[in-house]
Amino acid sequence: MSSANQPVQGMSDIAVPEVRLWQRIERLAREVLARYGFEELRTPVVEFESVFTRSLGETTDVVQKEMYVFEKGGRRLCLRPEGTAGVMRHAAGLGAAETDGARWYYIGPMFRSERPQAGRKRQFHQCGVECMEPPSPLVDAEILALQVDLLRAWGLEDCEVRLNTRGEGGGHAKVAEGLRAALAPRQAELCEDCRRRISENVLRVLDCKNEACQAIVATLPPPTDFMSEASRTYLAQVASHLDLLGVKYRVDPLLVRGLDYYEHTVWEIASMALGAQNAVAGGGRYRMQLGGRELAGVGFAIGLERVVGVLQALGLDAKMMELPPPLVWLVGLGGDAMKQNLALMQQLRAAGLACRMAPDGSMKSQMRAANKSGAAWAIIRGDDELARGVVALKDMVSGAQETLPLDRLVTHLAGKLAPKL
Ligand code: HAM
Repeated sequence: MSSANQPVQGMSDIAVPEVRLWQRIERLAREVLARYGFEELRTPVVEFESVFTRSLGETTDVVQKEMYVFEKGGRRLCLRPEGTAGVMRHAAGLGAAETDGARWYYIGPMFRSERPQAGRKRQFHQCGVECMEPPSPLVDAEILALQVDLLRAWGLEDCEVRLNTRGEGGGHAKVAEGLRAALAPRQAELCEDCRRRISENVLRVLDCKNEACQAIVATLPPPTDFMSEASRTYLAQVASHLDLLGVKYRVDPLLVRGLDYYEHTVWEIASMALGAQNAVAGGGRYRMQLGGRELAGVGFAIGLERVVGVLQALGLDAKMMELPPPLVWLVGLGGDAMKQNLALMQQLRAAGLACRMAPDGSMKSQMRAANKSGAAWAIIRGDDELARGVVALKDMVSGAQETLPLDRLVTHLAGKLAPKL
């Protein structure tokens, strides 16, 4: 193993057969998203670092530890660690008339320099949406329902939705104050990280994995106690809309998202089929300042490696894979037949058929190549067939062979392959 034949640690090639599962997942996603009125937005993988540092929050793990940052031409650039900020950067460059009510989705790679472990990659893929309709519990519920719908379309039924509120933007300081005051008497018992978090980002104490910290967190009043009545009402309305839509969820007052741009509704979706890193998706309502504009929306991102992991764990991956079209393999005996087959192959392709041929080799080796490729049919031509204007057509599954006039080949094949297409 060397750097010349291995991808960078934490990054992967996605090859056949698994890539067929990815194609299916992406196709189904586009179908479902179109039904909800979303249009695709493709933003660059490379952005200015400041797009993320400001919006995600200076004290988040993503910004502090996980960004791939580099300098070019005196500008600090980075590989995008997530999709929301880039979409909002795009929105910041548009007029209000174009962003009001915008519904965008994206499917693509994100980069976080995390310690690689099962389910945690340094290049991973997200399918996400951002919706810029005016803030409303109704929209939040619709977007969460869309996410559940999408997961179901992929065959992920057993997911658990945890729902919470981050409270209105203006109330964040009050929540932090309340939690700090509640934690003050227990400060000495917290882990070193949490003692630092108290001043930096006290909410993160709530999702510390340390057992001693968790025991203390269990005794704290829930953050909603420090929020406004309006924040609690907003959450209750989202919950009631979800009930109306038949979306199952569990309100988890300790759910904290790892990014700071959220306000009001937040959620995470986990699959029981995964191990430690079981978060399949996360989302919520957010607000950020970019390019002198205040931008707000609601959205989510689903980790596609995790979706693939669930499908593999459930044994659904092979069934879900996109099938390539049935293949016709052209076998030529002699240089003339090879040349004529090259031309015939293009005619067949122009008629919509998938074709391949080997550039040389004996009949036996060409048939071996046809078999290996999984071809449905082989067209065999030698000097004799060329002279008579016919082809031998072999069904690679049954082994049956017939001779056909060349001018009937396309209609004949199209008719045979139609049911398989
Ligand atoms: P996030 O929770 O950071 O949210 O990421 C969403 C999903 O991406 C996670 O639930 C997980 O499935 C996947 N993911 C994250 N990091 C990794 C990793 N290192 N390896 C594999 N998968 C990973 C966001 O990114 C927000 N932008 C979501 C959002 C959109 N909120 C509002 N709009």
